[in-house]
Amino acid sequence: MTAPPGYVSIDSYRQLMARYERLMELSRQLNSTLDLGALLNRITNAAAELTNTEEASILLLDSASGELRFEAASNMSGSAMAAIPVPIDGSLAGWVVSHSEPALVQDVHNDPRWYASVDKTTLFSTRNLLAVPMKIHNRVIGVVEAINKLGDKNWTEDDVNTLTALANQAAIAVHNAQLFQQSDFIAEMVHELRTPLAALKASTSLLLRPTFPDEQRTEVMLTMQQETERLTKMTTDFLDLARLESGRTRLRPKGFSLRALVAECIDLIRPQAAERDIQIILQAEEVDTEADRDKVKQVILNLLTNAVKYNRDNGTITCTVRVLPADETGPPCRVLVSVRDTGYGISEEDQQHVFDKFFRVASTAHDTAGTGLGLSIARRIVEAHGCEMDLESEHGEGTTFYFGLPLAEKRATPGIPPGSAELIPSGHDQ
Ligand SMILES: Nc1ncnc2c1ncn2[C@@H]1O[C@H](COP(=O)(O)OP(=O)(O)OP(=O)(O)O)[C@@H](O)[C@H]1O
Ligand SMILES: [Mg+2]
Repeated sequence: MTAPPGYVSIDSYRQLMARYERLMELSRQLNSTLDLGALLNRITNAAAELTNTEEASILLLDSASGELRFEAASNMSGSAMAAIPVPIDGSLAGWVVSHSEPALVQDVHNDPRWYASVDKTTLFSTRNLLAVPMKIHNRVIGVVEAINKLGDKNWTEDDVNTLTALANQAAIAVHNAQLFQQSDFIAEMVHELRTPLAALKASTSLLLRPTFPDEQRTEVMLTMQQETERLTKMTTDFLDLARLESGRTRLRPKGFSLRALVAECIDLIRPQAAERDIQIILQAEEVDTEADRDKVKQVILNLLTNAVKYNRDNGTITCTVRVLPADETGPPCRVLVSVRDTGYGISEEDQQHVFDKFFRVASTAHDTAGTGLGLSIARRIVEAHGCEMDLESEHGEGTTFYFGLPLAEKRATPGIPPGSAELIPSGHDQ
């Protein structure tokens, strides 16, 4: 039976009620996590489910640069998202932010506000979309987009209302997660800064004592120099990690030879390794990756520094670079870099935590300097490229850290056959 004009049928009413019930349930679930990454994925899934669409994505406003950035998208990898800043002027999402109201577009190709370069980069085909602002205290912090209505149905007013309600709940949850992340991180950071600051304070007091023996002054000043260097490294690491976590790190991907980069990093680490007679071996295929060279250099240096620090005297470090066979289902991270050492290894329990911020294995923490941020930063950089980092370790035998990177389309030089090894003895002039 059809309902008279101005009334909704019982069936439509039931559907509407079911939808609102689901909205309430999903909103409740949003508030049950403070993990920002997990939360953003939940929001995109909820948005696609509630509006019955192919895909959904979230863009958050970066207050520093004033740009919008993709933070979660069901149709994009991490590296694709990182590579696409969306301008406020000249994009639909930007229009939603500046007008603080939803945009409902039945055909994006006929809408001048549509920012086509996202589809070009992701090779995705957007036909229609609904974008709503995420507001907190009347301030827009981002945009939720639902893309391509299933069955090519038209968008309805209910879709707008449902997605708007979800976006407002999501805004509160995202804001809380961001605050929680900051407070947690700041507390740990301040705690870590206290040790070098205390050492500097004690050293200055010693130097200021008129009776302090001249012959000991140089030693104290050397301590001060070391502690200052430690503070500089820590503050750089804190900033790097804060930027990576908030998605403010801008990658500058280009094609380059990984073999050359690993060799360059080995040269930098060689003096450190030579002090403890640690040999470094490079086994690398000639392969080009498409990535941010400086950031990847940071990752490799982090792993090599650890492989020296947590190795035995006279130990070995083996670096490999190889191309994995094509896998239709996986992301395009077909270049595998690994750094293997002959150190004391990491117990199974500690392996679960080595990528956590500020985590250091208790048994080695006293003998070596460090903050416990190196691996968190390294993994985040790899993830920003849409790839993964992991480890294998055997207690007493050694550890291998490995990570993927995107394979560049073309190889620079036809090069050296797979598996060819080059021995680079550490610390000796060649
Ligand atoms: N190759 C390795 N072999 C054994 N243990 C390791 C290895 N690499 C890392 N670890 C353990 O994991 C912890 C975390 O490593 P991470 O690089 O994050 O921090 P760090 O080296 O302590 O300090 P920094 O922030 O200066 O890098 C280390 O403290 C160490 O206990
Ligand atoms: Mg380290």
